Amino acid sequence: MEFPQKGIPIDKIKGELIALKSGDMDWKGARAFSMVFRASEDVSKVVETAISTFVFENGLSPFAFPSLLRMETEVTSMTADLLHGGPNAAGNMTTGGTESIIMAVKAARDYARERRPEIKEPELIMPRSAHPAFNKAAYYLNIKTVTVPTSESSIVDLDAYEKAFNSNTIFAMGSAFSYPHGVIDPIEKMAAVAKEKGVWFHVDSCVGGFILPFLEKLGYPIPPFDFRIAGVMSMSADIHKYGYVSKGASTITYRNADLRKYQLFVYTDWNGGVYATPAISGARSGGPMAAAWSVMKFLGWEGYMRLAKDAMEATRLLMEGIKLIPGLHIIGDPPATTFAVGSDTLNVFTLGDAMKTRGWNIDSQHMPPTLHFTVSPMHLKIVEPFLKDFTDAVKEVSLLKQEDISGEAAIYGMIGSLPDRAQAKEMTTQYFNDLYRVK
Ligand SMILES: Cc1ncc(COP(=O)(O)O)c(C=O)c1O
Repeated sequence: MEFPQKGIPIDKIKGELIALKSGDMDWKGARAFSMVFRASEDVSKVVETAISTFVFENGLSPFAFPSLLRMETEVTSMTADLLHGGPNAAGNMTTGGTESIIMAVKAARDYARERRPEIKEPELIMPRSAHPAFNKAAYYLNIKTVTVPTSESSIVDLDAYEKAFNSNTIFAMGSAFSYPHGVIDPIEKMAAVAKEKGVWFHVDSCVGGFILPFLEKLGYPIPPFDFRIAGVMSMSADIHKYGYVSKGASTITYRNADLRKYQLFVYTDWNGGVYATPAISGARSGGPMAAAWSVMKFLGWEGYMRLAKDAMEATRLLMEGIKLIPGLHIIGDPPATTFAVGSDTLNVFTLGDAMKTRGWNIDSQHMPPTLHFTVSPMHLKIVEPFLKDFTDAVKEVSLLKQEDISGEAAIYGMIGSLPDRAQAKEMTTQYFNDLYRVK
């Protein structure tokens, strides 16, 4: 594709942008169960207003834009309050869960470098259900990952966890809750082991951080998962998930500012001036900061509790309805608003495809094969039509023979079941490299 010679007017651009969206998942109609967290129209309006007010401001310089410095520190303070960080907690906003996680791992690595310089090959301990952002962080920061086995429903093997520690361990973590099956790891026990061994412990609350505190307050049985637990040194919590802000808004919080210091990057010998940034990004859009600040103020405890209640009610109704469909089951006993559906009799990937033809977008997961549901408050409106279509799709798929299975389901099933994982990685790399080809 050549660079355009002449420009085109805004109206035409707008039309083309809208047309481009036509093949996308229908998140607005609450017909998707991942990617976009949907609260309500009025929250979306707050986000759009805040973003358009600060769209060009740059969070790189707290001196040029004291407005952004103020909003970022207020957002991180409100988050620390929510997570019981206490008066010494310190944090920053980042562009997303992955960046927050990379910053926590980097801080822990540099903290260990200072205190335990004899460690030359640092290791990070993570349950198998933990998000691949930890694998990515370890890969980027040259740290070895040690993966702790979990049951088929993501319950971590605590004995194996304890045995995974050695003299090279610099970081351990648990999820509250984890993405695949929505499980809250036994944070109290895991943090206690790490504390006893003198190892940094992180809680990944990227998806749970902005819903678990409200569920706890509503009286749901949520085990302790935050800074109230002594060994917890850092937590990641994403505002662009259950905080209901558009993408580009996450937080990383530390127990105190001395720990946060290990996250910062400072370079004082550049002829462009003194350069200091809290996280990976240099220039940072003011939009997500303003949106996070505005939505927190707009909703407050009251609004977030109302939305948490709706999301929980939608989850309960969906799970109860799904349990009644012959051949399907829920994986484990998820305590919050994420769950997965498996089957002993059906190919669930084909079921996902059959739902796609009915206009629903449900992500496939493997090991074991399941369909993923992260439930938003807006899903309360679609419980009935969803369950009707899901029941019909199950009937349709149960009539199929193995040789009829094609499309995405076949590819996904094949990648998940390849015994040679290096080959699975190579195939996926090649596929992804081709996907973003130049036109
Ligand atoms: C538990 C958990 N951690 C980390 C992440 C990564 O967040 P992001 O996609 O914002 O980088 C996710 C994303 O879904 C998640 O669910």
